[in-house]
Amino acid sequence: MAAADASAERAALAVLTIDLAAIVANYRLLAAKVAPAECAGVVKADAYGLGVAMVAPALRQAGCRTFLVATLAEGLALRRLLPDATIYVLDGLHGIDAAEFIAAGLQPVLVSRGEVDSWLTAAGDEAVARAGLHLDTGMARLGMPPDELDGLIAEGSKLMRLRPSLVMSHFACADTPEHPLNREQPRRFRAALERLALPPGATRSIAASSGIFLGPDQALDLVRPGAALYGLAPVANQANPLRQVVRLQGKILQVRRVDAGSTVGYGATHRFARQARLATIGVGYADGFMRALSNRGGVYFGDRRVPIVGRVSMDLLTIDISDIPEDQAQPGAWVDLIGPHNPVDSVAAEAGTIGYEILTSLGRRYHRRYVDAGNTAAR
Ligand SMILES: Cc1ncc(COP(=O)(O)O)c(C=O)c1O
Repeated sequence: MAAADASAERAALAVLTIDLAAIVANYRLLAAKVAPAECAGVVKADAYGLGVAMVAPALRQAGCRTFLVATLAEGLALRRLLPDATIYVLDGLHGIDAAEFIAAGLQPVLVSRGEVDSWLTAAGDEAVARAGLHLDTGMARLGMPPDELDGLIAEGSKLMRLRPSLVMSHFACADTPEHPLNREQPRRFRAALERLALPPGATRSIAASSGIFLGPDQALDLVRPGAALYGLAPVANQANPLRQVVRLQGKILQVRRVDAGSTVGYGATHRFARQARLATIGVGYADGFMRALSNRGGVYFGDRRVPIVGRVSMDLLTIDISDIPEDQAQPGAWVDLIGPHNPVDSVAAEAGTIGYEILTSLGRRYHRRYVDAGNTAAR
């Protein structure tokens, strides 16, 4: 580690470690599971908050060729990082001139007949300009609804000109394997694909992270994991086969003794039944460490769980360290807010949310350490 990085790390109130080798291992595990289908990488929202500038090249090196982002702006940034990758933009044209996508070699995943028309107008006969097509099979969020698909099929020549490079749909309930939509959506998707009578070469895709674990039939030609790459559990209430990627350590700023009957923090929401020792950590909800964790969550001191007491405030939270030996819990010591004993999914459950929200909320004030097999880099 460079001297400047080491000193920035010492000065940091919190250190976020992102394990690129774990992301690569997760990519390889998923790719092997779905082979011969292709495994793409979803890197929207700054690679789920983990830093697309570091994550996307690591995935590319691991053999990932196809990437998905949400917006044109994300696509443009990714194109600068990966000049030769196939990049799809999931939110379609989102009101932007199709020519902007074409100029950057980005492929919007078109979501409506209107977008197909705009695309064909801009693409003209340019054989190189390709786009994807999103069919709604039950998610009712993005994608061409069945009646619009009927219209597009009736206008056969448009479909021939469009020649979508990717035809995709998206599971609504894949993390709950027994949900009936997990049978219904692939059935609708296959029926739509048959009616589209696509030319050879069009890639078919329905599964994201959880969909991969619904069974080999769902891999089709390409899978689109995001969360699983970043270590989140793909199936609720089942062992997580993926490696943890994120560790968040917060520094103890101050330690104090409090008397039985006293309270801590805004609103005085926690009252001590006995004399206690308290430590204040320099992480708060402005860092994405959610206020919902007030009086609910816990942090780890080594392998010992320590409860969060009182409200999480903007920059600070407080923990009850009465059971930790005094010489260990001193200002400057580190605790795990996310770590081996409290992975992202557990913290999310305690906060009443999902791992996706914890990751994409990770704050900008953390000192970021990227580690891979042999190297450490700071951002
Ligand atoms: C259309 C689409 N495909 C793939 C993904 C990746 O999903 P996951 O992170 O669950 O793998 C998303 C994420 O929201 C998505 O919206």
